[in-house]
Amino acid sequence: MTDDAPLPRDDPDAPLLRAEGLRLGYDGRTVVNGLDLEIPPGRVTVIVGANACGKSTLLRALARLLAPRGGSVLLDGRALRSVPTRELARQLGILPQSPVAPEGITVADLVGRGRSPHQTWWRQWSARDERAVSEALAATAMEDLADRPVDELSGGQRQRAWIAMAVAQETPLLLLDEPTTYLDLAHQIDVLDLVADLNRREGRTVVMVLHDLNHACRYADHMVAMKGGKVVAEGEPSTIVTEDLVRDVFGLRCHVGSDPVSGTPLVIPIGRHHAPTAS
Ligand SMILES: Nc1ncnc2c1ncn2[C@@H]1O[C@H](COP(=O)(O)OP(=O)(O)OP(=O)(O)O)[C@@H](O)[C@H]1O
Ligand SMILES: [Mg+2]
Repeated sequence: MTDDAPLPRDDPDAPLLRAEGLRLGYDGRTVVNGLDLEIPPGRVTVIVGANACGKSTLLRALARLLAPRGGSVLLDGRALRSVPTRELARQLGILPQSPVAPEGITVADLVGRGRSPHQTWWRQWSARDERAVSEALAATAMEDLADRPVDELSGGQRQRAWIAMAVAQETPLLLLDEPTTYLDLAHQIDVLDLVADLNRREGRTVVMVLHDLNHACRYADHMVAMKGGKVVAEGEPSTIVTEDLVRDVFGLRCHVGSDPVSGTPLVIPIGRHHAPTAS
């Protein structure tokens, strides 16, 4: 590709996912009320916020795993509830926060399930499915574990198996709820680099929830900060991540500097036991 060739992430056909006046809740409780959000197509959006502020609830509603109590989620202008299930599964893949694998399933079979939206009764399993599964296993360094039962893996290996499944689904929209949970630092970076590759090389639109603000700042084109079920700030990390925002969203005193590797904001928590030293 030459320098001035358009990047795949500027694909005008990238799907547009939008929430309008979204109200979400469980039983008698409202968690999200009147939320408006547009996911920039062909970009990486990272949602951050304190525990229980509604990030997973929002992500599940964006993937139709949770029905809105009010307002709507729109995919290319169409209400998500009216999109046929198979079509939605070809457009949008989600890795929930705590997925549960069928008992005894192997890694290869779990990843293979990511291909089911692409199969029909007359075409059950194709060379393309095979290739998507082996590429996803390779990208997540899971090839050597392909024949192992998922329930016998370590937490980090299991998490990578689920990421491989979402990758194998080959959807233009990928929603990931804390994809780096359980992973050691090297594997966290591997997974985040993989997500960035999927975005840059294939133009996939990504929405992910991350707790590590510094990773969020490095990998997000667009950051959404949530508090109490509402969006309190959104935009490029370098424009929204400030000491005041971190205090408001997390109740945490911090210093915001510049990441010496990426130049993106670097959030350094202060805590009660450390006073900032003069530099
Ligand atoms: N299935 C459920 N039934 C009832 N309440 C729920 C359910 N799932 C979440 N909640 C509640 O909704 C609120 C928001 O939860 P949610 O899982 O969206 O938070 P989160 O921002 O993803 O938090 P975390 O960072 O801990 O993953 C919490 O108060 C939680 O207790
Ligand atoms: Mg969550």
